[in-house]
Amino acid sequence: MDRDRLNQYLSVNTSNQISEIHLHSELDSTNAEALRLIESGKTGIHLVISDAQSAGKGRRGRTWLSPAGSGLYLSLVYPFSESADKLQALSLVTALSVHHVLLGFGAKGLMLKWPNDILLGDKKISGILLELKRANARSFVVFGIGVNYDFSDQQKLSVDRPVVDLMGILQTKPELELVAAIITGKLLQNILEFLCAGFSNFQLPWNQYDRYISSEIVVQRGGKKLIGQSKGVDETGALVIQSTNGIKRISGGEVLPSLREASEGILS
Ligand code: ATP
Ligand code: BTN
Repeated sequence: MDRDRLNQYLSVNTSNQISEIHLHSELDSTNAEALRLIESGKTGIHLVISDAQSAGKGRRGRTWLSPAGSGLYLSLVYPFSESADKLQALSLVTALSVHHVLLGFGAKGLMLKWPNDILLGDKKISGILLELKRANARSFVVFGIGVNYDFSDQQKLSVDRPVVDLMGILQTKPELELVAAIITGKLLQNILEFLCAGFSNFQLPWNQYDRYISSEIVVQRGGKKLIGQSKGVDETGALVIQSTNGIKRISGGEVLPSLREASEGILS
């Protein structure tokens, strides 16, 4: 990632909010580096980007495949004084921010999968991992964003699920620095909007692009499975499910829920 080009693409408003930009050619994980920055006593908003990650983190300790130059691997450190239960809605706000930017680049047909994925059909193009960290009597959220940019066929096959990259769906390839700058700007704008007005402004856009709305779904939380029709999200970002036992709401903050279409079968 070229620092000058990134700076050139960041809006003045976005640049003014960021205390420091940390660019690396290789890291274990930008989220891990962000957590280290917090532990080291940094304050303010920090942007961490790496060209490659040797131990990119997904949810539940899973790995995010992060070959050099093939993806955007970005983490934003954001000071956070709200309660931890806001975190689940912020994961949706982050997915909506990335989704909005990718649509703006001309990526058509991208849909959202509650609570943290962006898909084209069944293929994943972006994943989001938020982590909450308290250090030195302060709280921070790390917003971790991975976007597949330009994967070789071999690299696509090495992921244990169908994936797609921006190159596969765009006519012209935007520079990675531009993608990073616009995503960062949109995310900062949406975080502020969320902190001022809550999730309600995001409910409609989420439900417009929710891939599974009205579908029969299975949601697994810990050992429990809930089956029913997805009604999309409510004004807090909780997933609403019409089950045989009535309406149920699932918060993304509870035991990392995992969603599948019922026709795909029950999760193991
Ligand atoms: P679930 O649907 O069970 O919640 P998920 O799809 O949200 O799962 P996560 O744990 O959030 O999965 O993400 C990690 C998963 O993403 C990995 O297990 C792998 O299948 C997939 N993955 C890893 N690297 C990439 C990548 N570069 N692009 C797309 N998918 C990837
Ligand atoms: C998921 O879908 O499970 C979330 C994947 C999140 C991947 C990004 S890449 C940048 C940041 N650093 C990490 O180690 N993970 C996130």
